Amino acid sequence: MVSRRMVLGAGLGGLALVSAGGVWRVTRMPQTAFAPWNVDEAPLNDIRLDAFRHAILAPNPHNRQPWVIRLIGEDEAEISCDLAKRLPATDPFDRQITIGFGTFLEVARITASERGYAMETEIFPDGEAQPRLDDSPVARVKFGRIEGAERDHLFSAITQRRSNKEVYDLSRKVRDIQLETITVDGGSFSADPEFVAQLRTQILAAVDIEMTTTKPHRESVDLMRIGHQQIDASPDGISLSGPLIEAGIVTGQIDREQLADPTSRAFSVGLEQLRETYGSVPSLIWITSPGNSRADQIEAGRQYVRANLQATILGLAMHPMSQSLQEYEAVAGPYRDVHRLLGAKGEQRVQMLARVGYGPDIGPSPRWPLATHLA
Ligand SMILES: Cc1cc2nc3c(=O)[nH]c(=O)nc-3n(C[C@H](O)[C@H](O)[C@H](O)COP(=O)(O)O)c2cc1C
Repeated sequence: MVSRRMVLGAGLGGLALVSAGGVWRVTRMPQTAFAPWNVDEAPLNDIRLDAFRHAILAPNPHNRQPWVIRLIGEDEAEISCDLAKRLPATDPFDRQITIGFGTFLEVARITASERGYAMETEIFPDGEAQPRLDDSPVARVKFGRIEGAERDHLFSAITQRRSNKEVYDLSRKVRDIQLETITVDGGSFSADPEFVAQLRTQILAAVDIEMTTTKPHRESVDLMRIGHQQIDASPDGISLSGPLIEAGIVTGQIDREQLADPTSRAFSVGLEQLRETYGSVPSLIWITSPGNSRADQIEAGRQYVRANLQATILGLAMHPMSQSLQEYEAVAGPYRDVHRLLGAKGEQRVQMLARVGYGPDIGPSPRWPLATHLA
């Protein structure tokens, strides 16, 4: 899936000056979409709500936030998928959506341990949903106090973590020891320029395929939230915001149909900027699982969010790039080549691939409030 975060506007440099009314609009930013990131320091009385208000900040594909939470009794909960929030074109088997449950569960668990609780998790208690997710629960969790619980140092990074989709500073090298620390809980890495360059070629080929294949591209365009009003109204999907986007909206240079139209200026500027950001690869980490079961996917999500949190602590930016890992037919070439380059054999599957480097500081991405996830 191709995400564009505040990138598009910069390339529409030749925008006409906007009127005074326009200026008022171009300076507007989303007002409520980031509120869930202001997590009060004080623990909540109900450990489940405390854990889940942090868990909804987890990285997840296209920021769909498909998590439905049903509280059971005093200390349990069932987590299932809002099936309308899946991504059938780019994620035909709900593999990536499932990874986003792994990230969610791990952030909940980290929070529980910070508060002195264990979170026991049973994934797919009614059996693995295959070949797509269904109404059955993805996980059932139970919280219990433990004396002298070991705290997880990654807790401190939960609200600071980002998927940083900006251009990185290629003059600053990422050291192996940093990458080793990031992948300590699972994953592999490389900062070898030749190897990275080979992968970069495949990654960019897959980005081009996704942008020029109708269904996957349309899926992304339909999920774009264009400007602060749409972002506040639907704090999910792919947000396009910032002064130049707002100016593009006001001057009629950016709208959904132009973004979908491969012959439009908005489309070509967007593609150019994606190539620039996805091509800015100081180093790579990837997560390979032994197979592709739902349990493998959940585990990949757990490992990925731990890597992302650890990178945050080290001051490193990280950006997942999943285009070449997707299962739709048009992208089969890069899929095969990336698996080969990353040494995946037999049943092994590369579940996540991300660039790591030094990027500009960015703000958080939108979130729906916790209350909207409670069934
Ligand atoms: C399984 C998975 C796949 C992802 N793939 C991509 C991707 O291909 N491109 C991208 O820009 N972001 C990707 N992301 C990052 C999400 O877009 C991001 O987590 C989401 O927008 C929320 O933003 P945040 O992580 O900054 O909170 C992926 C995340 C997950 C969990």
